[in-house]
Amino acid sequence: MTLQIKSFDEYKDAYRRSVDDPEAFWAEQASTFEWREKWHTVLENDFITPDVKWFVGGKLNITENCLDRHVKTKPDQLAIIWEPNEVFQKPLRLTYKQLLSEVNKCANALKEMGVSKGDRICFYMPMIPQVAIAMLACARIGAIHSVVFAGFSANSLADRIKDASCKMVICSDFNHRGPKTIPVKEVVDEAIKMGCDSVEKVLVFQSTNKNVEWNPDLDIWWHDIVDRQDDVCEPEVMDSEDMLFILYTSGSTGKPKGVVHTVGGYMVYTCFTFKNVFQYEEGDTYWCTADVGWITGHSYILYGPLLAGATTLMFEGVPGHPDAGRFWRVCEKHRVNQFYTAPTAIRALMAAGWHEPEHYDLSELKVIGSVGEPINEEAWHWYDEKVARGNAKIVDTWWQTETGGILITPLPNITDTKPCFASYPLPGVQPVLVDQNGTELVGNNVEGLLCIKFPWPSILRTTYGDHERCKSTYFAPFKGMYFTGDGAKRDEDGRYRIIGRVDDVINVSGHRIGTAEVEDAINQHSGVVESAVVGYPHDIKGQGIYAYVKAHHEIVEEAHFRKEILDIVTKAIGPIAKPDVIQFVIQLPKTRSGKIMRRILRKIAERDTSNLGDTSTLLNPESVDELKEGAEKIFNS
Ligand code: PRX
Repeated sequence: MTLQIKSFDEYKDAYRRSVDDPEAFWAEQASTFEWREKWHTVLENDFITPDVKWFVGGKLNITENCLDRHVKTKPDQLAIIWEPNEVFQKPLRLTYKQLLSEVNKCANALKEMGVSKGDRICFYMPMIPQVAIAMLACARIGAIHSVVFAGFSANSLADRIKDASCKMVICSDFNHRGPKTIPVKEVVDEAIKMGCDSVEKVLVFQSTNKNVEWNPDLDIWWHDIVDRQDDVCEPEVMDSEDMLFILYTSGSTGKPKGVVHTVGGYMVYTCFTFKNVFQYEEGDTYWCTADVGWITGHSYILYGPLLAGATTLMFEGVPGHPDAGRFWRVCEKHRVNQFYTAPTAIRALMAAGWHEPEHYDLSELKVIGSVGEPINEEAWHWYDEKVARGNAKIVDTWWQTETGGILITPLPNITDTKPCFASYPLPGVQPVLVDQNGTELVGNNVEGLLCIKFPWPSILRTTYGDHERCKSTYFAPFKGMYFTGDGAKRDEDGRYRIIGRVDDVINVSGHRIGTAEVEDAINQHSGVVESAVVGYPHDIKGQGIYAYVKAHHEIVEEAHFRKEILDIVTKAIGPIAKPDVIQFVIQLPKTRSGKIMRRILRKIAERDTSNLGDTSTLLNPESVDELKEGAEKIFNS
């Protein structure tokens, strides 16, 4: 059994052991899983190249650990509860035995369609059980899944399909989200027409009886091929360091990069963190509201919970449908014990109905989590008073796509909680704060750039097809350390508080958006000379997107121009990247070497113009007053 820490002393002991002898600590955790062959070396640690390997030489299949292992001991325990979008629709329940059989059928179908070990399979799916089934089916046969959030545009989808030369796309016909029915396959069709020549098949799950365009050379209905398969599929024996999945995430430059996670370390770490952070006990029902298109869905809807033999709830809908009580009604209905969501959802629900949670029985909740962005004090206290109500503890969990699992978090009833603090590192995690020069800031009461100085098992291994980018983004900035891109404070007792990104990444409703990506999209408009995008505080989204746009000519119809820009961004990236504010400018503030002074733009967008710093070195200092005036007009309108 994976170690489950139960007291502060046990936490301190585990932490000390994990630092004194990380290899022994993680070997102990790894030995609780089923391996076809044991590893010969626990860790190969090269943080420079980088080249990190865990459980080297080990052979396994992660789905045997997620499914077969539990089928042997508790076949009839629920693995997945699926709560559909509509309240009148019945939830679907899958036991471990049923899930294994569905996964095997899908795995056999993939094989029949010519998929084999190492092939990349792109997913563009809503939150339906088939997404979990198909992801596990890939892992069963050694194919690599690359899940793309179904809110991204055809352009973004095409970029990701091409980057990984995916052989197949798995999608649904439509997606039910709140009151909307969104055409999913249509987007896939559009993406494929953008030069996705590697795609040989599109597997389509039918969730409505609406018509879709059909290309018989490419498209296959799920029910035509999966349903008739045998429900036994021998798992592919994988190397511990074989790829499990690719997940794209935005950075400060260029196109999103494909973060690569491998089988063995990811398995050990997601299970360990799930059991400890959520203190999951046999019989509990756990619910994470994330979408499987993000890392939270991968690690804490699917892999972590199933590895731990838990019952994991999947929700198809959105928090506000049909009303602001939906989350709490689901908690009450399924007697949820652990609930995990994002600050943006907490803020939206808080705004929609301050007292709403009081109408529901939430007494079964033991742990309630937050992830994806800094949680503000007001939201933290509301979550504590209205949802936790003295029964549950809040865990503010800090981690990233690249880290694979949670790194810094309170442990419920074990370590103390302090509003807005992710608090202490989990065993195996060695955070450090450094200054701009990479000098470690020792002691407490310090603030700096957050780095991790020793590998944990689920650290990213590379960025797909471009190892150099992995090195330059994460390992080159501070030698011998993994750089997170976040700034953090360490308080007088050693607790961490994450402040936010220090690079050109905006965290919009917990989604990472690169400013460069949005600028590239805006600049596609023929009327735009240049643009600069920054983040600014937003009541619900955490950060909003503020775009400064310089046009070629005098703008005649501003509203029309604005709409065209929004449409271009939606088309290039997806609606989540649409700027909340567009300010048309005569000129952008530039240094003498021609660089845009983003610091000034950020301050103006944040409405904090009292101290803009030294603007005299600008090439065009007069631009600052123009910008301030323009912003005032927008704020007052
Ligand atoms: O800035 C941090 C923020 O989200 C970033 C990672 O985003 P992503 O890779 O999309 O993964 C999100 C889900 C794990 C981080 O660099 N972030 C994540 N969790 C927190 C957070 N910021 C503050 N507090 C958190 N608990």
